[in-house]
Amino acid sequence: MKTIVINQPRRFVFGNGCLENSVQDLAESGYRRVFVVSSPPIREVYERFCSGVEQSGGKCKVFDAIDREPDIAMFEATLAAAESFQPDAVVGLGGGSVLDVSKLVAAMIGNPESVKSFFGIGFLPGREIPLICLPTTAGTGSEVSPNAILLDEAEALKKGVVSPHLMPDRAYIDPELTWSVPPAVTAATGVDAMTHCIEALANQHAHSLIDNYALIGIEHIARSLEAAIADGKDEKARSDVALGSVYGGICLGPVNTGGVHALSYPLGGEFHIAHGVSNAILLPHVLRFNLPNAVESYARMARAFGISGKGSDVAYAEAGIEWVEAFVRRCGIPQHLAEFNIEEGHVAHLAREAMKVTRLLVNNPREITMADAESIYRAAL
Ligand SMILES: [Fe+2]
Repeated sequence: MKTIVINQPRRFVFGNGCLENSVQDLAESGYRRVFVVSSPPIREVYERFCSGVEQSGGKCKVFDAIDREPDIAMFEATLAAAESFQPDAVVGLGGGSVLDVSKLVAAMIGNPESVKSFFGIGFLPGREIPLICLPTTAGTGSEVSPNAILLDEAEALKKGVVSPHLMPDRAYIDPELTWSVPPAVTAATGVDAMTHCIEALANQHAHSLIDNYALIGIEHIARSLEAAIADGKDEKARSDVALGSVYGGICLGPVNTGGVHALSYPLGGEFHIAHGVSNAILLPHVLRFNLPNAVESYARMARAFGISGKGSDVAYAEAGIEWVEAFVRRCGIPQHLAEFNIEEGHVAHLAREAMKVTRLLVNNPREITMADAESIYRAAL
């Protein structure tokens, strides 16, 4: 069996109300200048967090301008605000975009180089400042992953920085923080988490140790995402989906995603389709394309969905792909690129852009050529 390296936060707290634990832990660690990256919709949460920090003698500076999926300019503005505050800890409190920015800020405070120098795998030299992440959505798993994604606005393409120095020191997953997430965001982020699990399971770099996280993540999301969409305050469903997101995030570091995410990035970069939505649209089509090389993995995925009585692995795998397609529909997520005014004339360009996401394409269980990418986009129109 091949060697696998897994980096995870040194402290990992999961449970309703654990936002309070994070405040106590910060105070006990003696952090006094806390820079909080956040976004406007969760003002109530960051105000609660900061009043806790301030009651214990600390000082909080909130930068809450992460109001969309971040680009380089947005990251640089956040970094400049952090550098002028000179924090002794950086906190990401928000959805995946917020967490990604907070991770890069913590790693780049005092580093004069452009973030562009660090796109790719393993280029960041280190991190001096402690980093604490608290997700308020359930999907990206960014709080337990070494990845951060930014839009390179000059190229209209999302790019990733991947480094062990982006792994938070502490992650607090408080499912209660997700109770107010609207149904459409719950659906898209939840399917993103499921996609992390599926793409790690059927992957050139799959590993038994990670397969188990992927399968448990798939089970949790399959059984509870629809309930979380229907009733945001369904405590059990929200906890299940939050766990599913964590399991998906654990898959990202050592194995990572593949074709769905690679083909998804140009849709986010140029057409500004939310990450979870573009993944959900592409997911069944990429799975169908991959099927000849992923029968066993997709059969395991289908069993994790709860499918039974199919006989052969091929029958399970095919039923699993149909299940995914119906699931995305039941979750109320758009299923066609045409809904975003993408048409045949865009296909060749999208495929060319997707071919640049080599760091993920190499993971896909079946090689995706330019012509294959075009067919997949065409099938999703
Ligand atoms: Fe994702």
